[in-house]
Amino acid sequence: MTILVTGGAGFIGSNFVYYMLSKHPDDKILCVDKLTYAGNLETLDDAMKNDNFRFFKTDICDREGIYSIFKDEKPDIVVNFAAESHVDRSIDNPEIFLQTNILGTQVLMDACRKYGITRFHQVSTDEVYGDLPLDRPDLFFTEETPIHTSSPYSSSKAGADLLVLAYHRTYGLPVTISRCSNNYGPYHFPEKLIPLMIANALNDKPLPVYGKGENVRDWLYVEDHCKAIDLIIRNGKVGEVYNVGGHNEMKNIDIVKLICRKLGKPESLITYVTDRKGHDLRYAIDPAKIHNELGWEPETKFADGINKTIDWYLTHRQWWENIISGEYQSYYEKMYGNR
Ligand code: NAD
Ligand code: TYD
Repeated sequence: MTILVTGGAGFIGSNFVYYMLSKHPDDKILCVDKLTYAGNLETLDDAMKNDNFRFFKTDICDREGIYSIFKDEKPDIVVNFAAESHVDRSIDNPEIFLQTNILGTQVLMDACRKYGITRFHQVSTDEVYGDLPLDRPDLFFTEETPIHTSSPYSSSKAGADLLVLAYHRTYGLPVTISRCSNNYGPYHFPEKLIPLMIANALNDKPLPVYGKGENVRDWLYVEDHCKAIDLIIRNGKVGEVYNVGGHNEMKNIDIVKLICRKLGKPESLITYVTDRKGHDLRYAIDPAKIHNELGWEPETKFADGINKTIDWYLTHRQWWENIISGEYQSYYEKMYGNR
């Protein structure tokens, strides 16, 4: 089987590439990635040594480029991770989010219709459901929760989800969608909460917590997400949405304090900064459907996952130091300079 993975030079996509190459050594994995600021070819160094892996530097919005890959390689399954993924950047400049996340998804699905595939899987997010109040711990997102987005990022992901479902209903395209909670683990770009706090703490820099740090996220170790997607593309029902979540809700401030403790750094590094505009309060997934239908459950406990993650950032310092020494500097200054 040939599986085309888009966005495979990013955080979750690269973890998925490695997971699939080791779990299904007979499958061929093709990776399409534009290599934006978030894509890193170094991350795929080991994959490049595998004969069952091929990399294409292509924008998913480039119709001609995408069609030619489909024509030559005839993928059976497409898993679409490619996206602009950072909420703060979407607040600063929404346009590229609409282009890549919505129009790019359309180009991929048009290619799927033209050349034929057995499955198009869209990697979506729990953020399409908006947020939940902090004082109602009894509420969770189910697949029936209405779409109700807050940021340009989540709106673009919701737009793509609706288009994916429309391509299924209108053209009969065999699609599935997964909506996952916040991931953490190796190769996470240091603009997101956990890797940013680890990198800053290791460099004894301030740890910028938005608002009071009371917002809640439901953290899932990235490998568990990869396992869920693998199950959905093999056994999931066409036309269906599956929520994927870690049953692991934590306040941001507790995560940041935990990172300080683990790294032996003082909590005095914590700096409260102006809140994110439209900041979602709480995300919490009810993963009953994927558990009951496909037998999936999160396997890595947060206590173990965060230790593995911190160890990875300690042993791969060059990987993230390379990132934060480049154009990231001006991003950081713009995002945090006057906050
Ligand atoms: P990321 O930003 O780390 O990686 C995105 C990858 O997509 C990069 O390699 C980038 O170069 C590539 N890309 C961007 N625009 C492209 C384009 N036009 N054409 C081809 N490639 C392009 O993101 P991530 O955190 O790995 O997220 C992957 C997917 O999972 C996204 O669709 C995101 O919405 C979704 N998701 C992420 C999380 C999370 O916690 N990170 C949770 C749920 C869902
Ligand atoms: P993030 O990793 O950007 O993921 P998302 O917003 O998609 O959930 O942020 C996770 C939480 O951490 C979110 O509530 C915003 C907060 N946050 C900070 O407090 N400081 C930071 O520097 C960052 C990047 C995020």
